Parts: sequence; C-alpha cells; structure tokens
Amino acid sequence: MNIWRRLFYKKRKFYDDDFDWDNYTSDSYQRRLEGDVETNYRAVSEAGQLRFDKASGTVISEGTPIHPNQQLILEVIGRLGPASVHEVGCGGGDHIANVARLYPQVRVSGGDRGDTQLELARERHPELVGKLGLQDITMPFSHHWPGAELVYSQAVVMHIHTAVSHFVALSNMVRQASKYVLLMENHQCHNFVADLQLLFENGHLAWDTLHIHRFDGSTGARAALLSKTALDLPVLKSDVQLREGLDPSYRRLRRADEDSARAIAGFRRP
Ligand SMILES: C[S@@+](CC[C@H](N)C(=O)[O-])C[C@H]1O[C@@H](n2cnc3c(N)ncnc32)[C@H](O)[C@@H]1O
Repeated sequence: MNIWRRLFYKKRKFYDDDFDWDNYTSDSYQRRLEGDVETNYRAVSEAGQLRFDKASGTVISEGTPIHPNQQLILEVIGRLGPASVHEVGCGGGDHIANVARLYPQVRVSGGDRGDTQLELARERHPELVGKLGLQDITMPFSHHWPGAELVYSQAVVMHIHTAVSHFVALSNMVRQASKYVLLMENHQCHNFVADLQLLFENGHLAWDTLHIHRFDGSTGARAALLSKTALDLPVLKSDVQLREGLDPSYRRLRRADEDSARAIAGFRRP
C-alpha cells in the first residue's frame, strides 16, 4: 500500500464517526451553536419563557421560538411525565438545562464523552454542576451511569459510525432507561427501526417488550420513541415509515446499510 493510501486508511480507521470528538468543541460545536441555532432560535430559555400546555400537549415559547428538535424533546417529556430524564451526549447542556427549567420536578442528568463539552455545559449552565458526568455511550454499560425513566439523545447516535458502536449505544440507552428512550436524531443516518428490531430479537436489549413509535413535535421535528408499553402513538414497523416525506440522502442511506450489515447476531435462546 502506498504512503497516501496508508495514511488515509489509518485516518478512516480511527475517525470513522462524523467528527473527531476530542477536538469537537473548538472544531464546530460552539460555531454551530452561535452561527446556526442561536441566530434563528433561543437556545437557552429562562424560567417563565416556556410553558407546557396540557390540553394541546404542546410547548409554548414566549418571544423567540425554540428549535423544533428541542420543542419535540420538551413535548415528549410534558406528555409522558417521567420522574427522571437523562441526556446522552448532552454537549453544551442547553437541552437538559431547558428540561430542568420547564419541569423543575423532574430529576435531570447528562453525560458526554467529551470533557470539554462538559466544561462548556457547566459554564453555560452552572446549575447543572453535579448533574453531569463523563459517559461514552459506546463503552460497556456502567452501573455508575444514572438510571432514568426517560433517556434521550439529540444529534449524537446519528454521528456514530465506528464498527458496531451505534448498536452498543442503542443497547446501553435502553438499559439505562426504565421506561422510555427518545431518539431525536437524523433518521437517515442509521436504520434505527431495523437495528433496534435486530437488537431486540437477538436478546441485546434489557427490556422484555419493545414498542417503537413515531413522535411528531408540534413544529415539524420527528423522532423515534421507544417504550416498554404500547403508547397511543403511530407504531413504527420500518425505517421507511420514519423517513416518509424526507428528501433521501443516498450517501447517508448507503452508509446506514453498511453500518447495519456489520451486526453479527443470532445465537438461539437455549
Ligand atoms: C452534535 S453534538 C450534540 C450535542 C447536544 N446533544 C446538542 O444537541 O446540542 C454531539 C455530542 O455527542 C457527544 N458524543 C459523541 N459520541 C459520544 C459517545 N460515544 N458517548 C457520549 N457522547 C458522545 C459529543 O461529544 C457531542 O457533545
């Protein structure tokens, strides 16, 4: 193999996820927050700026709107009413901070694989100190991770493409959650429904039952919501249903298929 191919090969081996997470804050996160999210939406809400309207099941924001993904996360929590919520890959902490502000009765926690991300979260939200911790969701499950009724990720698993890491992440999230897992992700980046079905059917999930639903936020975002019990929501049997109406990205869909194909499972129950 010539030197260029060898260098490129090594790079791909080590950075198969979308980002080099160790440089992520300086690379792009802060830039994305300030340049994208914060120019159009309010990323951090103060007490009183958000309200959950029980009758409509929607979140109402005073003044500047909040990002549709954040709107969806807050609406899921408002409707399901979990006692505790954990965010995987919490980054700068804005989502989980807003959860804590809108639902002060909910016990919150957040984990991220990046120390610099957690530092940024503590800077932006001093009230989260003591509730955040270092967590790589693709590591073997840790009993130190805080359990929660609802565990969610937003723009995290979609970026994980190294080996079978996203399968590990999904399995860990289910194990960490006692009732619900919410995947607020780009649903073209993995075959989430098929991969979860494979994990469940082959005994890789800690739950005895698995219901996969589609949840639509009131301002256009959509997510997969996993639950131990059936919810009064559309049931997802395939990724096609979850991707309905989206412009297909053939590059993403091909990579999703490649990631799915790495799964080795099938040991029969004795
Ligand atoms: C695109 S950012 C999203 C951050 C935050 N959820 C948000 O929406 O603002 C992705 C985050 O996932 C974290 N992350 C990536 N891989 C992870 C892993 N294996 N375990 C935990 N966090 C991870 C990164 O450090 C980064 O903070």
